[in-house]
Amino acid sequence: MIGKFLKRFMPRSLFGRATLILLVPVGTILLVMSIVFIQRLYENVTRQMTEGVANEITLILSRANEAESADAALLAAGAIAEPLGLQISYSDLDISDRRQWIDLSGRTVVTTLRETMGDVDAIDLVSREGFALISMMSKHGAVLLEVPRARVSARNPHQFLVLIGVTSVLMLLIALLYLRGQVRPIRRLAAAASAFGKGRSVPYRPAGAAEVREAGNAFIQMRDRLERQIEQRTLLLSGVSHDLRTPLTRLRLALSMSESGDSTDMVRDVEEMQEMLDAFLDFARSESLGEPEWTDPTPLIESAIEKAIRAGGRVELGVIEKTDPITLRPPAFDRALGNLIGNAMRYGSMARVSLTVLDETVSVMVEDDGPGIPLDQREAALRPFTRLDQSRNQDAGSGVGLGLAIAGDIARQHGGSIELDVSKDLGGLKASIVLPR
Ligand SMILES: Nc1ncnc2c1ncn2[C@@H]1O[C@H](COP(=O)(O)OP(=O)(O)OP(=O)(O)O)[C@@H](O)[C@H]1O
Ligand SMILES: [Mg+2]
Repeated sequence: MIGKFLKRFMPRSLFGRATLILLVPVGTILLVMSIVFIQRLYENVTRQMTEGVANEITLILSRANEAESADAALLAAGAIAEPLGLQISYSDLDISDRRQWIDLSGRTVVTTLRETMGDVDAIDLVSREGFALISMMSKHGAVLLEVPRARVSARNPHQFLVLIGVTSVLMLLIALLYLRGQVRPIRRLAAAASAFGKGRSVPYRPAGAAEVREAGNAFIQMRDRLERQIEQRTLLLSGVSHDLRTPLTRLRLALSMSESGDSTDMVRDVEEMQEMLDAFLDFARSESLGEPEWTDPTPLIESAIEKAIRAGGRVELGVIEKTDPITLRPPAFDRALGNLIGNAMRYGSMARVSLTVLDETVSVMVEDDGPGIPLDQREAALRPFTRLDQSRNQDAGSGVGLGLAIAGDIARQHGGSIELDVSKDLGGLKASIVLPR
């Protein structure tokens, strides 16, 4: 329950989370401190000041009550009220209890006055700006006392709040700037890793906090090792294929010149071996085909279809959704698509190529009307050098079993994959190159 709530409302980025982690405790401490401080200090100061004024008022009233007449009372009371900064008058001004809700110390003033002096009628803190009006009963009638607010309540508690607020915002800004500096190296590492996942090696230098640096160094080591391995595989395969080619050519030449009549089978074998070698070379080179660039895949698809039609295939263009350019190595993509179309031609009688755009991926699909590949053999079909049960596609002719493996390799270099499924429209295989956008 709480976990779900947190998941939903926690910011997703590290920067957002760190900000929250910083903000919540500091904000809470500030809030508690301010409340306690205002409560304790300002309330107590206000109460003490109000009590002092209440005592003065009691004294003034007792003087007024000792006098014989109303006029004499006013004179006697005024004589001590004036030096104390208070004003007293008989007045029929009808006042009632009033206080603004924002006037925090006002409540303390009112309660303290009522507690200290028994016979208070009403206390008005609003009608006259900067004064507290107090009406009371005296022996000679109702009197109105005007007390400056400055005498009863501690002034400017908001100055303290403003000061705290401004400093907090300033410190927070500095902290956020600093935090952003800490998050940037992580972002750069993520960008380098994701680019490498898509087959691009961008310049990257570890930076930032020790842990981030460590992860960055580990990433660089991993990248170097992978690059070395790919290079070695390419070198090995192309070296072997290349070295085998010369003796094979010699063998074929020798066979064609030999006197014996039944060498045609052997010649075919040798030719097949040469084709295999060409396929190995293709496989080895597929890693290094072209540079990644922002490309619109649609023209590439169209040209691949044209090529297949020129070679005598029945290939049609299906639904092509519009897409923004994606990062592609055009020659590699062409090779992968060509392999899928080649399979469709070999194992079916027609093919249809279409393109679907989803939230995060672009799928280029090649469908055919052949026998398809059963679910439990799809994984095997993607492995290099695997040819499935030949009885399923008799007159299909035999390949080396590298076409799908090469396409898979190329898709992975682009950060994507090859997916095999059943074609709903044509009934055969649906092979898709799924690429990230
Ligand atoms: N469109 C398809 N329809 C039916 N089966 C297929 C299809 N594509 C591939 N297969 C099966 O998957 C196996 C592996 O395909 P892959 O393209 O890797 O090799 P290949 O076509 O046999 O040889 P290569 O492509 O190297 O000449 C094939 O032998 C075939 O049995
Ligand atoms: Mg093939």
